[in-house]
Parts: sequence; structure tokens; C-alpha cells
Amino acid sequence: MPILFNKAAREFHLYNGRISYIFCIAKNNQPQHLYYGKAIPHVESFSHMNILRSTVLSPVPFSDDMDFSLSTVLHEYPSYGTGDYRTPAFQIQAADGSRVSDFQYKSHKVFEGKNKLTGLPHTSCDVGQGTTLELILADEELSCELVLYYSIFEDLSVIARSARFTNKSSQDLKILSALSMSTDFDESDFDFITLDGAWCRERHITRTRLRKGIQSVGSSRGASSPDHNPACFLAATNTDEYSGDCYAFSLLYSGNYTAFAEVDSYDGTRIGLGINPFEFQWNLGKGKSFETPEAITAFSDRGLNDLSSNLHDLVRKHIIRGIWKERVRPVLFNNWEATYFDFDEEKLLMLAWQARSVGIELFVLDDGWFGRRNDDTTSLGDWYCNLDKLPQGLGELSAKIKSMGLLFGLWIEPEMISQESKLMNSHNDWAIGVPNRSRSFGRSQYVLDMSNQEVVDYLFHAIAKVIEDGDLDYIKWDMNRSITEAFGAALKPEDQMSFFHRYILGTYELYERLSAAFPNVLFESCAAGGGRFDLGMMYYAPQGWTSDDTDPAERLKIQYGSSLIYPLSCMGSHVSASPNHQTGRETSMDFRFHTAMFGLLGYELDITKLAGAEIEKIKEHVGLYKTYRPVLQFGDFYRLKSPFDNEGDTAWMTVARDKSAAVCANYKVLAKPNPSLKRLKLAGLNEDSFYRLVGTDRIYSAKELMSRGIALEIEFSGVVPPESEQIKCTAGKDYGDFTSYLYFLQEEKVRE
Ligand code: DGJ
Repeated sequence: MPILFNKAAREFHLYNGRISYIFCIAKNNQPQHLYYGKAIPHVESFSHMNILRSTVLSPVPFSDDMDFSLSTVLHEYPSYGTGDYRTPAFQIQAADGSRVSDFQYKSHKVFEGKNKLTGLPHTSCDVGQGTTLELILADEELSCELVLYYSIFEDLSVIARSARFTNKSSQDLKILSALSMSTDFDESDFDFITLDGAWCRERHITRTRLRKGIQSVGSSRGASSPDHNPACFLAATNTDEYSGDCYAFSLLYSGNYTAFAEVDSYDGTRIGLGINPFEFQWNLGKGKSFETPEAITAFSDRGLNDLSSNLHDLVRKHIIRGIWKERVRPVLFNNWEATYFDFDEEKLLMLAWQARSVGIELFVLDDGWFGRRNDDTTSLGDWYCNLDKLPQGLGELSAKIKSMGLLFGLWIEPEMISQESKLMNSHNDWAIGVPNRSRSFGRSQYVLDMSNQEVVDYLFHAIAKVIEDGDLDYIKWDMNRSITEAFGAALKPEDQMSFFHRYILGTYELYERLSAAFPNVLFESCAAGGGRFDLGMMYYAPQGWTSDDTDPAERLKIQYGSSLIYPLSCMGSHVSASPNHQTGRETSMDFRFHTAMFGLLGYELDITKLAGAEIEKIKEHVGLYKTYRPVLQFGDFYRLKSPFDNEGDTAWMTVARDKSAAVCANYKVLAKPNPSLKRLKLAGLNEDSFYRLVGTDRIYSAKELMSRGIALEIEFSGVVPPESEQIKCTAGKDYGDFTSYLYFLQEEKVRE
């Protein structure tokens, strides 16, 4: 049983052979944290772990015990107002305006599987895959119940957490803040890792030493944002990809959030994750409940690669749903960077025909197919075909593309409305804004009020019709601007502070209804690239557009950072034109493909204008990708060399689940003069096996590949000869900037 209860000591031990998470019910009847880390054997009592820290100048709840203070004990879900001055997990206001609470243990239940959250994304866990503890607490004075959920997965070092408040009183309560999880550590000798960036450079890794006070990331944009991913990590300062203790904390939530680490005066660390308390309040009427979004936490004592591997499995097995969960994803063509808004049916059909000829499987028509949309200033909300561009209609275009043997998909941006649109003429009040104040523009558009049920219902019918008319196999769901002038026209004044949360609940409802109505459609989430790339979205959309930046050298950082949490099967990754449209950088087709293939491969350039040799190259690449697709999309991923530590140079690999094959890539960004010889140590292979380097007759033991490493291509060294001599001089050598090499390994029969 992975959740053990020491009755006498009132201790809970969540255990699965990999991790232990231990807390007790303290003398004040509140849950008190004891330990979270590598699995340790169960014993009858863990009370020896309960060492109280200094209480000098600390208030105490019991006048006869000066050693027990809520200022210094480790909490599970800390409250405000009774002596703990660190950031609380929640705060409730009673009808009389008081804001102090005392939730005490009442009972608990342990059951196989896990709780489902209503209207919110959550991990799934069938009977046999994990166990849940439901810890029931109550504040008698408030007549409010608080249930803390902890689910431990059987085969992953992961725990899912959430909280539910129920008002059982005859007065209205107000939730002023409610995090999804909080965990206290009695140490702070950690690095704090977050994934930060901006549009076109999302999820770069930031790693700094923890210091006293609060270090946090968050969003108040209405989406989880490209600025910071809704997650954070703690890593022992010596932790690298292969060894060391590390913890991940991540939210299944796509709206405003906070994720913080707070180091206190006695070198303890509090981690908190949940809805951003800024711009949040929830009125909890009599008899009503409020559920927080779910958060997950993972631990590894074997470094960041192992931590990520647990998270990738969690996403693949317990977050992604539906028919695409385990199905290899199609290689797609997207016309955005090929045509932008400037296309007609003939152009699209030419692109589709060329796409089909190189082996691409899905044709995606991006922005510009609807209303009167010829640039980004009009038509959002008018979800019907632009007959000026596509006179035969969507159904006809879809039929023609499908007759070529391709799947067909469309771009939509349901949550938005343009000033110049039919929808605005009929429903001006649906655009978010404060009455009598001007609205800010963002990409020349406004955001629809997804907190309004009428809007969600309208969008469901409008988008369902598009899916039916176009016989769609795929949808790219974009969201290109952040919310300003937040206000829900259909909400009462006293509910306005719940607007942002209601917005994302409305968006989730629309996703849920559409994906339930069209279970075969593959959804890809997008928010101006990777601006809402989070575990919440992955519950609805099995894949996400990782970034609008398709420059391969930039993508190394973006995909490397993203891989800390997200598996390759979630990362849309396209080969685009050279020079690149975001950076102007020129790179070879090989370098672009070698980067994009570590993700969900797509092409996004005008393939009707490429030379024959380039088309042949793409054909070869797509074929290669298809051969290794299960390994690339669903294999175990290992980061080998970080672009953040090596001036952009990167290496990574994926290994088939049964370890029979592996694909490894090494990327050099800038050429160095007079370089030294280099080897690359591989990871994740079957220790006792031998592997053949495909394309050669060389066979290596896995131990050698992982300990000594594989010799990398010899880099060019010397004086660059005149152009006519270059080929001879550099043949067989790694020459110039932006080069990359692939190494395919095939397991050989084990030698005696
Ligand atoms: C932003 C997306 O990230 C792009 O890929 C593209 O779909 C544009 N929007 C279209 O407007």
C-alpha cells in the first residue's frame, strides 16, 4: 500500500519505492511536514524527524509550550494569522471581515486511483496506477471544510496535489487566495531553476542559488505566459543532468499563477504554487465548493535527466488523453511562414501537392482563411470561410487536399475578436473591457470574455461548424494577446475579482466540449508560439506550438529548456526558410532538420520555390524521421550538452522504450579555431548490451558509449583555403558554423 498511516503517531507516509513524502498531524491538529525525498523504509514512528527550530520572538499557540510555534514548524498547507509569517497557502475572509483560520484534522480516506477535478485539467490515475489520500480538515468557527488531496503514482516519482474548500456555514465566505500546493523544507542549500523568456525565446533555463526571501515567477496576463513557465525546480547545488537531488513543481493550469520559493530566517524553504493571488478572490457562497487547480511535484536523486524522464512519462501516460495519446503524430506542413496572409486556393493546392510529394501527411491552413482576413487587423470572431480567397469554400478545399492523401487541419483563434468583424457589430459587449473606459489593443485585436457562458456556447457552435464543414483532422488553437482592462460584463461587481480564473475555466470548457464532440481531431495549442505551453493545455491539446521562433540555433535553447518538463511528443517543431524569418540567420537544411526532428516535425516554408536538390533532401529527411518516429516522439529523452553552458553547442538523444535503438544529435553553433578533439558521453542505453553505429560496421559496448563516449566529427582546423580548394580540404570534417551530426544506434545481440 503506497500510503501508510501510523495511527498512534498520526503520521502519513506516501511511498512508492522511489520517493517518500511524510507528514504528521501536529499537536495543534494541523498537518505538519516531516520529509520529502528519496524513498526511506517505513517505521512505526517518524516523530524523531520532528525537530523544532528556534522560536525566539515567535508567537506560540499554546501558552504552556514555548517551543511549538507556527512561525518555524514545517507546514503542509499553511494558513494566515496564527504566527506563521511566511507566505500562506490560502486566506479566507469570514462575513465579519476577519481573515484568520484554523483548519484542523478531522479524518482521512485512502483510495486506489485518484480524484477528478471538475472543469479543470488533472492527471488521471486508474486503479493499480496510484493511490490517493484525502485529508479532511475543518475550521469549526468558519464551518468550512478543507480537503487536501495527495495522489502518489505507482511507477513514477510524482505526487499530484490539489485542495477543495466547502462552505458549510450559513454565512458567505471569501477566498482571498488558494494555492494548489505548498511544501516546506528545513534546508535551503538549493539552486532555484525556472524557465523564462519572452515571445520567440521561451523557456530558457535560469538557475541561481536560493537566497533569503522570496524568489518567484508568475503571470498576470491571463495566460501562463512566455515570460515564465508555471513551474519551478529545486536542485542541490551539485546536481547536474546525471546525479544529485532535485525536485520539480509544476501546475496544470494555464491562467494567472504564482510559483515561488521563500527562504526563511532559519534556512528553511517554502515552495508554493497556484493561482496568482493578485487579481483573485472567490466568493464561496453557502454550500458551495471551490477546487484549486492541480499541481504536481516530482523528485529524483539521479539528476535532472531522471527528473524529466518522470515528468515526460507523467505527461504521456497521465495527462494526455484521447486517441492521440499513444499514436505517432503526423508530419505536417503549415503555410504560415510560406505565405502569411497572401494565399489563394491555387497556391494552397500547389503547396499541398509538393508537401505530399515529399512524404508530409497533414496540411495545415494557418491564419487568414476566414471572414475578410487579409492581415491581422480584421475578422477574428467571424469563423466562416473567406470566399474571396477560397471561392469554392472550405469543404471543397478540404476535399481536394484529402484527395491527395493528406489530412487537413485549420488555424483558429477562438478567444479573440477584431474591431472590424461581424461579431463585433453584433456583440460589442463580448469583448473584454471596463464600461466607459477605452480598451487597449494587442495585435490589433481584443479578447473575448470567456467568463461569459453565452460566449463559450457561441464559440462551441461556431467552431463545431467549421470542423464539420472542413472535415478537419487537426486544429491549431492560437491565442495571440494578453488580457487588459479585465472585467466580466456578465459578472456581478462582487465577482469581478474571480474574472481571470473564470476566463480560463471558460476556455477549458470550450476545449473540453470540442474535443469530446470531435474525439478524432488532433488539437495543437498555441499562444503567439509558446505563450501558454503548460501542463493544463496538454490535458486538452496533446501537442503545442513550442515557439514562433523557428531558427534552429535558437530552437536548441527553447527545446532544451522545454524538455525539462515536456516530452518531445508535445513539442511542435518546424523546418522553415533560410535566412530565418525571426533572426535572419542562414543555416543548412540539415541543421534545420536535425533540430526540428527532436520534436513533432513540420515544414513551414514555401516548398514550391525550393530547388530540386532541396526537395530531394526534404524527402530524405521526412523518410528518415518516419523510420525513427516512434523513438523520436515516444522514446526516453536525455540531455547531454546544454546550450546554456556551451555557447549554444548542444547534444541530446532519445532511446527507444525497449532500448533497442537510439538517435543522438550533436550540434555546433559557432566554429572555433584550432579546436580540440571531442567525445560525447551517451546515456540511457541498455548497460549490458552492445550497439552498432548505423551506417558503419563499428560496434560499441553500451558501457563504453556511456563512459568513454563516442568520438565526434573532427572539426576543421587551419587556414581557410581559397574557395576552390575548400571542398578537398574540409571533406569529412566538421566545417564552419551551424553544423550538426546524427548518430543512430542499433542494439546488437548481447555478446557472451
Ligand atoms: C501566432 C502563431 O504562433 C503563428 O504560428 C501563426 O499561427 C500566427 N499567430 C498567425 O496569426
